[in-house]
This record gives sequence, C-alpha cells and structure tokens, in this order.
Amino acid sequence: MALGPARYLLFAITGLALFFLISRSAIPIPENIGTKLNPSTYKDSFRASPSSQNDASASSGPSKYIPEASRVNATFVTLARNSDVWEMAKSIRTVEDRFNHNHHYDWVFLNDKPFDDEFKKVTSALVSGNTHYGVIPKEHWSYPEWIDQDKAKKVRQEMGEKKIIYGDSESYRHMCRYESGFFFRHELMMNYEYYWRVEPSIELFCDIGSDPFRYMKENNKKYSFVLSLYEYYDTIPSLWGTTQQFMQKHPEHIASDNSMGFLSDDGGKTYNKCHFWSNFEVGSLEWLRSKEYIDYFETLDQAGGFFYERWGDAPVHSIAAGILLKKEEIHFFNEIGYYHVPFTHCPTGEQLRMDLKCHCNPNDNFDWKGYSCTSRYFQVNNMDKPKGYENES
Ligand SMILES: *[C@@H]1O[C@H](CO)[C@@H](O)[C@H](O)[C@H]1NC(C)=O
Repeated sequence: MALGPARYLLFAITGLALFFLISRSAIPIPENIGTKLNPSTYKDSFRASPSSQNDASASSGPSKYIPEASRVNATFVTLARNSDVWEMAKSIRTVEDRFNHNHHYDWVFLNDKPFDDEFKKVTSALVSGNTHYGVIPKEHWSYPEWIDQDKAKKVRQEMGEKKIIYGDSESYRHMCRYESGFFFRHELMMNYEYYWRVEPSIELFCDIGSDPFRYMKENNKKYSFVLSLYEYYDTIPSLWGTTQQFMQKHPEHIASDNSMGFLSDDGGKTYNKCHFWSNFEVGSLEWLRSKEYIDYFETLDQAGGFFYERWGDAPVHSIAAGILLKKEEIHFFNEIGYYHVPFTHCPTGEQLRMDLKCHCNPNDNFDWKGYSCTSRYFQVNNMDKPKGYENES
C-alpha cells in the first residue's frame, strides 16, 4: 500500500516523458499541413515574431510549430527595378496563388538602387511570407579594376550595330555578372540554403502540389530547370575556351559523373551552346557559395567576357552545373508549368495537367521542339521522358 503513490508518480513521469518524445519527434508531419491553417492568422503570428522562424522551442503552440518546421530554409529571390513593380506584382500573384499561400516562404528583392515605398508596399501586400529589400553593394554592380572600359564600350557599340540582343546594354551586362557571381552572397541571401529565382511578368500554369524546395533538399539536388535551349553564339565566343582553362587549372573541381554530354557533342572540345534557362531556377545557395563555384566564377570574371562579350548568367550557371555537379544533382521539374516571354513549359502528361489544374495549352510546350535541349538532358541521364511524351511531341 505504501508503494501506491510512488507507483502513480512513476506512471505519470513515464507518461509525460513518452508524450514529449512522441510529440517532438515521432509524429510524421504531413507535407500539405499548411493548407489546413487559416493563412491570415498564421501570417500575423509569424510576422509578430520573425525571430522564432524555424525555432520550435520559441513557438507557443502546435499550429505555429508545424508549418515552420515543414518549411525548408529557403527564399524566393528577385532582381528588380522600381519601375518593374506591376510586372513583379503579376509574378508574385501567380507564385502565391499556385504555391506560396500554403507555405509562406520569404521573398528577397534586390536592386542596384534603393526600393521606393510604392514597390515595397505593393509587393509586401502580395507576399504571404516575410519580405526583405536589399541594395546591391556598388562593388558588385560596377567594373572590376582590370577591365578596360574603353574596350568594353567599343564592344557594346559593335554588338549594338550587329543587332545582337542586349548587345549595346551596359546594365544588362552588370545584371548578368551579378546573377553569375554575387546574388547568392548578398547579406540577405546568407540567411538561406535554397533559392527560387522569379523574374517580372512570369506565369505559373499549374498548382505546385509538392514543395520544390523540399524536393531539392530531400533528394540532394543542387540545381533545377524547366526550360532549356541554345545560346546565341555571338554573346559567348570565348566562354568555352575560358572554361577549358579552368578545367585544366582545377581538375579537382570537376565532378567525375558530370553532364559534359549535355554541354558538348565531342567530349568537351566544343560547346554545343545548350543551357538551362536561368530566369527560372530553384537551386542550392550553398553550392553557389562553394569553393568550386566561386573559383569558376572568378576565372570567368578575370577573363572579362561579361564586358568584352556579353556572357549571360544562363550559360554560366549551366556550364558550372554541367561540370561541377554530378548528373543526378540537376533536376528537371516537369510538373511546374511556366512562361517567360517567349517560351512555355507546359507539363507533359494529360493526367498530370488535370491533377494540377494546369491552364496551359500543351501544344505550346517547348520541351520536345527542335530548339530545346531538354531531350538531350534525358538522353545524357538515361532517363525515360515523362509519361505522355509519345502523344505530345
Ligand atoms: C539557414 O541557412 C543559413 C545559410 O546556410 C544558415 O546560416 C542559417 O543558420 C540557416 N537557418 C536555419 C534556421 O537553419
């Protein structure tokens, strides 16, 4: 009889311990849990305590704890000017409606000039997560000291006369260099592991049912794309030669099972100009911040082709992914229907399009047309094309 109370106490303690164990670690968190919450309540509570992000111990109840924990350490990122505000509003609206209203990921906006109040007001009202506005440091948006600016100016005139797209533009070149080498090192971006790049005036055609950030993390993917095509040769005449020099200088950086077959038809002698279209990207910031990638970017930057030619960030990111990453670290998101003028990726597979409520015309899909490199990606990876390919190509 004297043991009675002690036994109850023991039961109670064991029970409590078990409860904590189970509630902290063993209950599987459903991927779409965010949809069950009232988004406005959630958003307010999140805004009220931004420092508690991803910090389970600091939250006061399960409704806040679960969705934060189900998010990956990731952000949307946009390079925009104040005058892009309405084009940007359109992009944010499509991303929020098709995906982010269930997840509340943050959004980082970067600009070489400070954002004005209108831009901040309009974009903050549309984003369901937190918004951050950053100015690009001058040294990331100007000429490095080794660049001959007169030579660069002459090139712009010549390329303008030849009617090469953006051939005469100075700001476009700074933008391409920034996207190639700096955005992932901006102080606001240092707070995240993954990014999703969004440009003004894009459109998403389908619901995004499962979280692309989570997919990247759980499957160890470093770079992803929805559209691929051939680059204009006149913008990159010496890019491949510079890349070959890098490969000779840094053989330790080259992945053994890489995607050279995507980039070259002759084992690396020449570049076939295939690249992933980088206005859409979901990728790993930690990969871009790695020594391998930075060494590659610095080799290119020293060579001067961002200014003496017009190297785009798309071929730069693509070649880097092709030689520095293992094949299986690059992913194609068939299920993300996407438009950026002038190309459409409409997911292959009728059932998939129905399930995801897509509103694109499958005849507009660029993937299997002659000017796309996506078939080559499937060949190089020995992968079967998506279900439905036979009927839709
Ligand atoms: C997110 O990633 C960044 C960069 O790796 C890291 O510094 C930060 O601590 C991470 N935050 C969380 C909450 O895990």
